Amino acid sequence: SRTPVVLGVESSCDETGFGIVSEGTLLGQGLASSAAQHAEFGGVVPEIAARAHLAAAVPTLRIALADAGVELSDITHVAATSGPGLATAVHVGLAAAKSLAWSLDVPLYGVHHLAGHAAADTLEHGPLPERSIVLIVSGGHTSILHVGDLVLDPIEHLGDTLDDAAGEAFDKVSRLLGLGYPGGPAISRAAAGGDPQAFAFPRALLRQGDAPYTFSFSGLKTAVARTVEKIERAGEAVPVTDIAASFEQAVVDVLVTKSLRAVADRGLSTLVIVGGVAANARLREVAARRCAEQGVELRIPPPRLCTDNGAMIAAVGDLLVRAGSEPSGLGIAADPSAVL
Ligand code: KG4
Ligand code: ZN
Repeated sequence: SRTPVVLGVESSCDETGFGIVSEGTLLGQGLASSAAQHAEFGGVVPEIAARAHLAAAVPTLRIALADAGVELSDITHVAATSGPGLATAVHVGLAAAKSLAWSLDVPLYGVHHLAGHAAADTLEHGPLPERSIVLIVSGGHTSILHVGDLVLDPIEHLGDTLDDAAGEAFDKVSRLLGLGYPGGPAISRAAAGGDPQAFAFPRALLRQGDAPYTFSFSGLKTAVARTVEKIERAGEAVPVTDIAASFEQAVVDVLVTKSLRAVADRGLSTLVIVGGVAANARLREVAARRCAEQGVELRIPPPRLCTDNGAMIAAVGDLLVRAGSEPSGLGIAADPSAVL
């Protein structure tokens, strides 16, 4: 049989992504974003995202094919995000993937978006070790997972957030500070040069006896809001840089502490951090320092593979193909609230 050349399609939020992967190697990708169209609303508007996917699909696929130097007819398998995500947005990519798989007469695989985030790292650092801890930090999720090969081995869910996801906290605090959407990069830029110790914002659930791998970020967001209100009421200028840096430090402390705790508790030696928030410079820096101190191998994909993209979905498709998994078939439905 032909060497697999897997096309991945991502459309769960505001990024339209196509990626092409063959036997663990990223051949090329195309990416379009409707983030600018959502900015004035302070968050992603599903209907606008869906229309943008429809407009971007063909041109973005063309870019991916050209980047990879392959023809559409070279594609041997198609993989698409089937969930979780915004229903109308997922539908556009999944429908495109079905049309492609049918017309090319190749198998179609539905992919879990979060498995995609984790698999993104294999494109940069090779196959995952036998077992590892994966921290997924995105706009919709904050989870600590105990994983094996990502496709055949069971994935153990160690903890989630009780309220806001880490990326959502960045987005909400950014809005509150008047820094715009998407909030992660905006906060990160504002925080550079700020004092991360200027404000002692709360680190939730870090005490002995608290759920060890569970997160909560809504109290932190409220604490930032109260601080801003108090300063404004006093008629003083809001120190945006120091607040952004202190907020970022609070999020990063909790994320790294809980993930490293999971690594130690399970007797493992590898921590993988993925998802949009993994693009954050302070998180990457603090995680690198603390992993080095504890003799833990840290794997984080480069920033362009942390945020949503098609390559990560192709990476899961490629793992599924090589593991001999059954394709999903053309009847597959979107599963907007899919759990891993
Ligand atoms: O993984 P992703 O692209 O989409 C989801 O699956 O949600 O993650 C998007 C989230 C947004 O909340 C965005 O603000 C955050 O990732 N993000 C960042 C950074 N870049 C993106 N957060 C902190 N620092 C960044 N540099
Ligand atoms: Zn994502």
